[in-house]
Amino acid sequence: MNIKKKYDFIRKDLDNYLVDYLISSSYPKNIVDPIKYIFLDKGKKIRAILLIEACDLFDIDYKDIRHIALAIECIHTYSLIHDDLPAMDDDNYRRGELTLHKKYDEATAILVGDALISLAFELITNEDSVLSPECKISLVNNLARSSGGMGMVGGQMLDIYMNPSTTNIQEINNMQHMKTGELFCFSCISGPIIGGGSDEDKKTLFEFAKLYGSIFQISDDLIDIESTLEMAGKSVNKDNKGGKSTLIEYMGIEESKSKITINLQEIKLLLKRYGNKADNLYNLCLQLVDRKS
Ligand code: IPE
Ligand code: IPE
Ligand code: MG
Ligand code: MG
Ligand code: MG
Repeated sequence: MNIKKKYDFIRKDLDNYLVDYLISSSYPKNIVDPIKYIFLDKGKKIRAILLIEACDLFDIDYKDIRHIALAIECIHTYSLIHDDLPAMDDDNYRRGELTLHKKYDEATAILVGDALISLAFELITNEDSVLSPECKISLVNNLARSSGGMGMVGGQMLDIYMNPSTTNIQEINNMQHMKTGELFCFSCISGPIIGGGSDEDKKTLFEFAKLYGSIFQISDDLIDIESTLEMAGKSVNKDNKGGKSTLIEYMGIEESKSKITINLQEIKLLLKRYGNKADNLYNLCLQLVDRKS
């Protein structure tokens, strides 16, 4: 199977798995419909794909981890739903259509986001899963840390209240790592957690995810400057108006693009220990360069 087909299959399979799960668990229609609206056939599902590729390094079967891949996408989708709310970035478009609070209402967006958080942990701890209890506990702990106050939520808080005139590059890097990088770290260290990798594997994949996250956020900030609503599927030209602190604002477009090149070189060195087995992970990094959505 070529790589595009493989990733299209994963995206579709996760959509089907989610719908089956919600329906068989008797979720109410006014939770299921908005989840379907924001999730099905939408989003790149890159956090799931990274998790699956990181697990592949340890020869783990896709069918044994698809629920964990879905869990990280649930957390990520909730983070976007809340990020778009009027109290945060106040955005009208997401994934090519109206944001959830515009399509439905704010109460629905808040509650559906909340439901997606719980759903993620429900999926990881599912009793049908073949993963060991120790592994499940480790995944729950790592996901809670990556997505909570010392991870994504903490980073979002810094993002909202950071003052561009008094901040510095270190603070911006830290904020971006927390708000964006931490979820990638969860995806990548799930490989060694589930596959019984060594501490060195965990360290390597954590560092890989940090570098991946940095490229990802720089390219997201470039999309805000260089892309269009049609291409990006979300409003652009908002970071500057919204007084957001971004690396691009500090380093300029050219230097930010050079940082991407430097990160790619470091990633190549890091992944060397896995030989050709890490080709897909490296190619996922290359796909970030010049992405338009
Ligand atoms: C966008 O994430 C938000 C950031 C973390 C910068 P993605 O670009 O992965 O969004 P989807 O899931 O493909 O819509
Ligand atoms: C959002 O960053 C990151 C999270 C949702 C955690 P942005 O606010 O830059 O994301 P977009 O540009 O709205 O997708
Ligand atoms: Mg934001
Ligand atoms: Mg935003
Ligand atoms: Mg952005």
